[in-house]
Amino acid sequence: MKITSKQLRQKWLAFYESKNHVNIGAVSLIGDGSTGVMFNVAGMQPLMPYLLGRKHPKGTRLCNVQGCVRTVDIDSVGDASHFTFFEMMGNWSLGDYFKKEKTAWSLELLTKELGLDKDKLCVTVFEGNEAVPRDEQTAELLENLGISRDRIFFLPKSDNWWELEGTVGTPCGPDNEWFYPLDVNKPDPVFPDDYVEIGNDVYMQYKKTENGYVPLENKNVDTGFGFDRMLLFLNGLSDGYKTDLFLPVINELERLSGKNYDNGGDDAKAMRIIADHTRTAVMLIGDEQGILPSNTGAGYILRRLMRRAIRYCRQLEIESSAMLKAAEIFIDEVYGEAYTLLAENKAYILDEIKKEADRFEATLAQGMKEFDKCVTSLERKNEFMSKSNPAYVKESVIGGKQAFRLYDTYGFPLELTEELAGERGLTVDKNGFEEAFKEHREKSRVLAAGQFKGGLESHSQAATRYHTATHLLNAALKIVCSPDIQQKGSNINEERLRFDFNFPRKLTPEEVAEVEKLVNGQIAQNIPVELKEMTLEEAKAGGFVGVFDSKYGDTVKTYSIGEFSKEICGGPHVEKTGELGTFKIVKQENVSAGIKRIKAVLN
Ligand code: ALA
Repeated sequence: MKITSKQLRQKWLAFYESKNHVNIGAVSLIGDGSTGVMFNVAGMQPLMPYLLGRKHPKGTRLCNVQGCVRTVDIDSVGDASHFTFFEMMGNWSLGDYFKKEKTAWSLELLTKELGLDKDKLCVTVFEGNEAVPRDEQTAELLENLGISRDRIFFLPKSDNWWELEGTVGTPCGPDNEWFYPLDVNKPDPVFPDDYVEIGNDVYMQYKKTENGYVPLENKNVDTGFGFDRMLLFLNGLSDGYKTDLFLPVINELERLSGKNYDNGGDDAKAMRIIADHTRTAVMLIGDEQGILPSNTGAGYILRRLMRRAIRYCRQLEIESSAMLKAAEIFIDEVYGEAYTLLAENKAYILDEIKKEADRFEATLAQGMKEFDKCVTSLERKNEFMSKSNPAYVKESVIGGKQAFRLYDTYGFPLELTEELAGERGLTVDKNGFEEAFKEHREKSRVLAAGQFKGGLESHSQAATRYHTATHLLNAALKIVCSPDIQQKGSNINEERLRFDFNFPRKLTPEEVAEVEKLVNGQIAQNIPVELKEMTLEEAKAGGFVGVFDSKYGDTVKTYSIGEFSKEICGGPHVEKTGELGTFKIVKQENVSAGIKRIKAVLN
């Protein structure tokens, strides 16, 4: 390696620190919900409010290397250039320096620090349009720095303008992009065909609104250079899995499988998928707001990734425990230093990967048989029908019900079934799958409602008391720990309540005492628990918390305990808080990195 990943990371940060930037470190990969995206997809995303004018606590010159997760084309992962996780090397000026310093520093870093040849670089700048002028200024600055005019290209908005697609109220602006020949030895390379883009400097000085672009008060700079790509390029490689970010994992997979990555083909594809998906799983589970595989939202994406990797372990004829080995290498050798939380959470991450692998392996072989059966019966039918009728159009679609059965019984994400089908030249009836899904959900809802009702009749007073105590606990946590706390799960039996909520750490002994005091205070006041039915809209407007899910129907039941607690809930609850006795927290547990659990009793 001409330059290792650790050296590149270090060089980037040290260079900008030498220009008085503060390294702000990487933030969570999990979207904060403000932009509506599940994962962080660009280095500037967490800095959006500051690019729009808010004061950043660390100053006006910032830098970092930021992880990003993009999952739009999971199915393309398997070739040499697609990844679901990557890092961006970034630096920012928040209304501080502008084009003059930025062009000089980018060039200095590329040529002096990273050893690129100034005479081989090409740069593109914005050619202007009716809204924003042509960027002559940047072109002139570049020329004064020694880049010859014939290597500076003016391009339209489709090339030299940066904004987050599909958003409004976000910062944006023209950019200059840096290009270098893919093969430095090629005589007379032609731009752009023989060049690769290595990074860009965005002059974030506009805000995108419904009615066009308005200038921002601050003129900002937002620079992004793809870390993985740069590493590849600086080392003269063309396969992203050959950099030191992946090579030790690929080597381990070769060792475990006895197969050679360089032979290419299906084995190399399987190794890449296992490596890429395991890396992203490590990053998402070990994140400060870590998530776990589940059947909804970001958790479902994670599950898809993990199950796809597990399936490819099988194809490579290795145990899915290979993912644990891969995860360990990523944590110990590759990323643990830069992402210290991964090292801290190592045991937890490995344990969760193992759990998901065990869950899926238990049904995978059976599910594959089931899938093969679907294909065989389709083929038989086609064969039979074609014999009797030469004009018969062969069926090539796996039924939605069958896909749902694979999902429900064998844990096959729909996308996995689609991928398997694709390999056999078939497709899956997605609408049919959705319908089967809905039908199933309806059935289980009716069933659950019935059980709940039935359960109610025999419901002991104890469980009812725990229901009400859960509401008090929920409200007290919001007061003591954070107003952002939300119920993430709850389970009640005759002996205790169990309550899961989003919070990054365990409560301190003082906080536990404070929560108990608040709850017991409400109990001591013997407050009536008031039930009211209202529409969901009224409940929302009235400040009732709860899961705003269609399962509540049009009118919902709400329970208030004075002004202290207001929740949407099916009940049952005691009539007055005085019936509860004494509330005590007996245990705290980690559910996942961002989710904590409390167990409490009433005496
Ligand atoms: N925001 C720019 C990018 O993501 C720097 O490329």
